[in-house]
Amino acid sequence: MCGIIGIASNKPVSTNIINSLKKLEYRGYDSAGLATINENQINEKKCSGRVEYLEKILFKTPAMGNLGIGHVRWATHGVPNEANAHPHSSEIVSVVHNGIIENSKILKHELEKKGKIFKSQTDTEVITLLLTDELKIKTPLNAVHDTLIKLEGSFALGIIFKEYDDMIIGARRGSPLAVGYSKDENYIGSDSYALKSMTNKISYLDDGDICVLTKDKVEFYDLSKNKINKKVLTLSDDKNIADKGDYKNFMIKEIFEQPITAKNCINEYIDKSREDINFYNIPFDAKKINKIILIGCGTAYHSCLVAKYWFEEFTSIEVETDIASEFRYRKIRFNKNNLYIFVSQSGETADTSAALDLCKKNKVKTCSVVNVVESTIARNSDWVLPIHAGPEIGVASTKAFIGQMLLLYMFSLKMGYLRGDIEKEDYQKKISNLIKLPDILIECLKTEDKIQLVAKDFLNSKGSMFLGRGFSFPIALEGALKLKELSYLHAEGYPAGEMKHGPLALIENGLPVIVISPHDKYFHKTISNMQEVIARGGKILLITDSNDNVISENVRFTINLPYLEKSLSPFLSAMPLQLLAYHVALLKKRDIDKPRNLAKSVTVE
Ligand code: G6P
Repeated sequence: MCGIIGIASNKPVSTNIINSLKKLEYRGYDSAGLATINENQINEKKCSGRVEYLEKILFKTPAMGNLGIGHVRWATHGVPNEANAHPHSSEIVSVVHNGIIENSKILKHELEKKGKIFKSQTDTEVITLLLTDELKIKTPLNAVHDTLIKLEGSFALGIIFKEYDDMIIGARRGSPLAVGYSKDENYIGSDSYALKSMTNKISYLDDGDICVLTKDKVEFYDLSKNKINKKVLTLSDDKNIADKGDYKNFMIKEIFEQPITAKNCINEYIDKSREDINFYNIPFDAKKINKIILIGCGTAYHSCLVAKYWFEEFTSIEVETDIASEFRYRKIRFNKNNLYIFVSQSGETADTSAALDLCKKNKVKTCSVVNVVESTIARNSDWVLPIHAGPEIGVASTKAFIGQMLLLYMFSLKMGYLRGDIEKEDYQKKISNLIKLPDILIECLKTEDKIQLVAKDFLNSKGSMFLGRGFSFPIALEGALKLKELSYLHAEGYPAGEMKHGPLALIENGLPVIVISPHDKYFHKTISNMQEVIARGGKILLITDSNDNVISENVRFTINLPYLEKSLSPFLSAMPLQLLAYHVALLKKRDIDKPRNLAKSVTVE
């Protein structure tokens, strides 16, 4: 994680650095800092906490200069305090870093033996001190190149030099870095989103690349310092640029945007007149796929879990799911007839990206479901399915989850149809139901008033449990994850049938238990499990599309959802669960868009 920005310009840069850092805060927000070069001095400002504090510091003591770098941090080495905030500067060089230097302890030890003194507990400071030595005898490019050779791990770097007040050097190995171009101004940034308000012309560094930029020129070098050219891409004009409008925060805006997100995604892929799903240029023969492996982290992993049920229901393909951080280190038997699907909102998650690289090395078929089409994962996979959800700013994923599930739902249906596993009539019926989804989601969001009442039950609870079966099991996991992320309350998701094998021991008088039970083939079984919880004092919130009043007896709250189609129930039940996590967090006065200890884009493993 962590976010990097660098600007070389013909005018003062600190305001634009601050504005870009605000956009990068989704990558980390436990400390912030910047450094500029002015009158042959490195001018460093940093603080623990948010960019707004840094802005206040600059208000009192401005950082002049037409060239600078900035950073928002998500702590890996060292607590989030001012000393550990980036940039890390010496007399002559200043560095911002995203990633982890895995051999930092050894390097630090060697430097200390030479009498070097460290001001922070970070891994990054070794880069500053190594560079400081190298610069005594080498040009900036050679000094950076020779320093990078000594580093193990992953990084994106932004570096400025006291003696070169017009030059920024950027470098990438394993963590993303983009370059932006404008008139009399050039930029480096962790992603295009941070640069978008300044330019729509972007290039991306590949692993091993170094870039050297001044306000007028950008040069790229490969690992061996050979000059290389980079493609300049023009970013799409994204009208959905993040602005929370009248909403209290981004998360609630994004929750209520979901019917529109769903509509956009459906319009993008569904041919309503032919009742067909348009996936163009599928780079494999659907009939020849033997197995599908779905891989992701966090909420994206939960969408993989839901999709497993869909692929199994609509196709005859064997399906597996995997958590990227596990997949990348297992002894996987790769198979050329398998399709490996990577799901990631940001397209930058380090573990997911590394799992994809492993598949590429083993020359198997890959596909990615992403929100950010310019991302590393999108660029590295054979085939990309964008979810078209627009920027998601709240750290806890909501509308991207719905977008990922939509894409995977359509993909599983299309695969089933192409392989002849489902009949045309059934295929088209499911498509016509899917088209109704955006309107049904609006209805589901009308549960907010009741959810606000339910949320009060969580204020004094020790924890909570989320139960479901079938499609509703991954939704229970996601409901529990949302509540944990936002409210910091302990929450567990379980398959309802598994309760009696241990978790039932946790049920005691008044414990909130959320039961997700749409009227599918599991309905009566889940309701029986619910009764077992009621018998032990659990306080039930039942989320269902059944109107059976008898079922609701002894249930504290029932959230009645509309009925659409069994296989679409995950979309519907996700709505009240997102609202529940949101309202509990609101009552607990949590920082909803930026929960403690988390970051939106996890670019370290
Ligand atoms: C972080 C975010 C989660 C997200 C996960 C995977 O943990 O806080 O909301 O689900 O990363 O991110 P990705 O961008 O790969 O979907």
